[in-house]
Amino acid sequence: MHEVAVIGGDGIGPEIIASGRKVLDAAGERYGFEIGWTDFDIGAERYLKTGELVSEAELDALSSYPAIYFGAIGDDRVTPGILEKGILLTLRFAFDQYVNLRPVKMLAGVDTPLAGKGPKDIDFLVVRENTEDFYVGIGSRFSGKEKKQLEVVRNLYSVKFGLDVESDAEEIAYQIGVLTREGSRRVMEYAFNASRKRRKKVTSVDKANVLSDVYGLWRDVFRDVAAQNPDITTEFNYVDAITMWFVKNPEWFDVVVTPNMFGDIITDLGAMIQGGLGLAPGGNINPEGTSMFEPIHGSAPKYKGLNVANPLATVWAGALLLDHLGEAEASEAVVKGIEASIANGIVTRDMGGSATTSGVGDWIANWISKSA
Ligand code: IPM
Ligand code: MN
Repeated sequence: MHEVAVIGGDGIGPEIIASGRKVLDAAGERYGFEIGWTDFDIGAERYLKTGELVSEAELDALSSYPAIYFGAIGDDRVTPGILEKGILLTLRFAFDQYVNLRPVKMLAGVDTPLAGKGPKDIDFLVVRENTEDFYVGIGSRFSGKEKKQLEVVRNLYSVKFGLDVESDAEEIAYQIGVLTREGSRRVMEYAFNASRKRRKKVTSVDKANVLSDVYGLWRDVFRDVAAQNPDITTEFNYVDAITMWFVKNPEWFDVVVTPNMFGDIITDLGAMIQGGLGLAPGGNINPEGTSMFEPIHGSAPKYKGLNVANPLATVWAGALLLDHLGEAEASEAVVKGIEASIANGIVTRDMGGSATTSGVGDWIANWISKSA
């Protein structure tokens, strides 16, 4: 029995998770294991009622699970940032899920906006660092007591723009990105190991030509890790350039390892070239702790309850979850089930079909029971 925690969340989250669960249950039945699902009522609805985002008791309870199956969060009634930081980022940080694994893989039968490219060209893995960089949450709009911070910023801007930080408090803001040697090393190790099972090439992303302190450290660590893994081919790319190569030559890439914020940005591009956000899964992984699997898209509030959202990213995230739990065969069967549903035109509106969220889940679950 695999115990899995579930956070359906907001908007379309509960519907896509229901489809995903159905598929994973079918895979379990087919491959001889059971999943014990435990729902956690975390999301906008409860926040609006009680003001609670994630409690200490919930973090404690979740910490005993190897995996969380996560739908989506985000709600029009809540100021942007509150749920994202208070729930999603809180979970990633609390469980030190330092690897954000985002496969960019075009499945057969899917459309890509890249002319002349197909499934054999678009198949790489983005390994996004998930706990550092500009996501550490150190910054200020210079209001309240924090306006006394960072003497250097005050001096620079009072000289440059003639601003007085005390009286022009609204005029300046800053945000700090933090990288550590160990935080960079561990995610790079993961990337090198992942590439060893693939085509043995790792590309590092940074902006060391400008943000040379943080990303200079990233580069130094990458050189060290590359030297310790001489069987793997390596290269550096600047983040601006890599967006260009993702579009022009996606076939160059095998594993791409990136600091957190650049990883956020380039994986939306990755999602688009593999066929759209509706198809892009992600895993937030702590190899020794509680990991979390989710579609990389958001909660799409306007489609809530309409049974029209594409569940494939969530089903695919479920395949990553099964792989993480050691159920490799079942995981492969789920991805094959996704491909079969696409081949048979059992897809939602965004992919040109007319199937429903639950219909796609039911179809794949049934395909796994009968054909996998
Ligand atoms: C993602 C999302 C999140 C991120 C937001 C919702 C906090 O965009 O998972 O890519 O920035 O990491
Ligand atoms: Mn994102």
